[in-house]
Amino acid sequence: MSNKLHELERRRQEALLGGGIKRIEAQHEKDKLTARERLDLLLDPESFHEVDMFVQHRARDFGLDKQRFAGDGVVTGYGKIEGRLVFVFSQDFTVLGGSLSEAHGAKICKIMDMALKVGAPVIGLNDSGGARVQEGVVSLGAYADIFLRNTLASGVIPQISAIMGPCAGGAVYSPAITDFTFMVRGTSYMFVTGPKVVKTVTHEEISSEDLGGADTHASKSGVAHFALDGEVQVLEGVRKLFSFIPSNNLDDSPSILNDDPSDREDVDLDTFIPDNPNKPYDIKEIITRVIDSGDFFEVHEDFAANIVVGFGRLAGRSVGIVANQPAVMAGVLDIDSSRKGARFIRFCDAFNIPIITFEDVPGFLPGTDQEWRGIITNGAKLLYAYCEATVPKVTVITRKAYGGAYDVMNSKHIRGDINFAWPTAEIAVMGSKGAVEIIFSKQIASAEDPEDMENLLIAEYTEKFANPYIAAERGYIDEVIEPRRTRSALIAALEMLRNKVDSNPKKKHGNIPL
Ligand code: HXC
Repeated sequence: MSNKLHELERRRQEALLGGGIKRIEAQHEKDKLTARERLDLLLDPESFHEVDMFVQHRARDFGLDKQRFAGDGVVTGYGKIEGRLVFVFSQDFTVLGGSLSEAHGAKICKIMDMALKVGAPVIGLNDSGGARVQEGVVSLGAYADIFLRNTLASGVIPQISAIMGPCAGGAVYSPAITDFTFMVRGTSYMFVTGPKVVKTVTHEEISSEDLGGADTHASKSGVAHFALDGEVQVLEGVRKLFSFIPSNNLDDSPSILNDDPSDREDVDLDTFIPDNPNKPYDIKEIITRVIDSGDFFEVHEDFAANIVVGFGRLAGRSVGIVANQPAVMAGVLDIDSSRKGARFIRFCDAFNIPIITFEDVPGFLPGTDQEWRGIITNGAKLLYAYCEATVPKVTVITRKAYGGAYDVMNSKHIRGDINFAWPTAEIAVMGSKGAVEIIFSKQIASAEDPEDMENLLIAEYTEKFANPYIAAERGYIDEVIEPRRTRSALIAALEMLRNKVDSNPKKKHGNIPL
């Protein structure tokens, strides 16, 4: 027996070394951790159970028969984060560059299948040279097996990707289908084709970092939701994100008690909105003053900053927050902010996370650039996402709610459950100046002093429409609240909505304007 136990231990020790000491050192020299070191940081201590430690590839071509490693370049299994079950795969770059073979792909699929059966999230740590070139089409098939599972699991269990090294070619499409993508600054990159191919095809000279590094994807393309300075920060970020989300679409997010009183008032909010309607302010300050202990976990911070999305808690329960940001482009809605908002709303709706909307929006961004790139279709994504969402939806209009954007930002008409307005709210078809120029152009032109006349009419229009009361008279606003009471009002609304049941007509799926 003891011989057999020794043999097991010998095999285990061999597997734990992946591609061997030299390659582990090379990984460390690149400022990268190994697949197993990453899992140690991601999961609760001693909670990891490995699956398929001894799986090897069966390929024979191009010398692969002499390069066989236990585990075949990916560590898979299950463990816990803050005591909650999670499935993980962590690609091991020390084994054939973490390249994805038939066996490597099958290991990932196995844990994805288990995760779906038991209703637990999957976290993938990606560090791979892509399809194992020596295996050819078999490796492509393995990728497709994963893409299919990513798609079928979407909206059933949360899927999180962390890019810890290369992720190139078709491999990028697995993280792209998952719910959230983290990237490490300096050592990770994602692109469909690398700098060499780019140079050949488009004659552009560009580095990997500029083409597909963390900052590029977190700010320009929006492919990454988080760009962080190091691997440790990324793994901590994944744990933090995990604390806000449920394990599956039938579950609730964990409730985390805190000592922030539900009835806490913030008198500074009563004077927070500037008197001048064109003066910006930072909506994040309002968010952090309202939610539990000011703990706001922002998603997509550097992308389309004119809309802010992220997670917080109210009375210990997770909420998704969507907020126009007057401090960036006056909070206008454009293509990127609409896409960003829509994707976040759909995640929250799929996973039972109530949505709180803070609204201060002058409208959609005009211009050829936006029109020609499809602000119509893209703006419609945000509208569609809000319309189809059946989770509790509460809105707070802090200032402007103009035009189509009023409708879009979770108005009463599209099933906003409780719609609050601050007394500073201006709910109108457009700003007073624009409105007066349209409806009184002749009167202004024929006036003795056109400027005087215009100012008079603007003042009149503002007095009449730039307030929340016309909407409140119609019941489009449920309550006009003192800003200092926002926290307690939101908590009361969410408590009232706790057992909300709403549904959409039965269908195969809707046709969101993609
Ligand atoms: C087999 C691979 C590999 C791959 C790397 N290796 N990528 N082996 N298949 N895809 C091996 C290398 O040969 C090397 O082995 C070891 O891993 C480490 O790689 P290095 O090149 O020394 O590392 P580094 O300098 O850090 O460069 C990393 C890299 C580079 C940029 C990722 O290896 C690279 O360009 N690899 C090929 C990328 C690629 O074209 N992949 C296919 C994309 S197409 P030895 O033994 O020599 O040290 C694709 C399609 C997917 O993925 C489609 C899905 C639909």
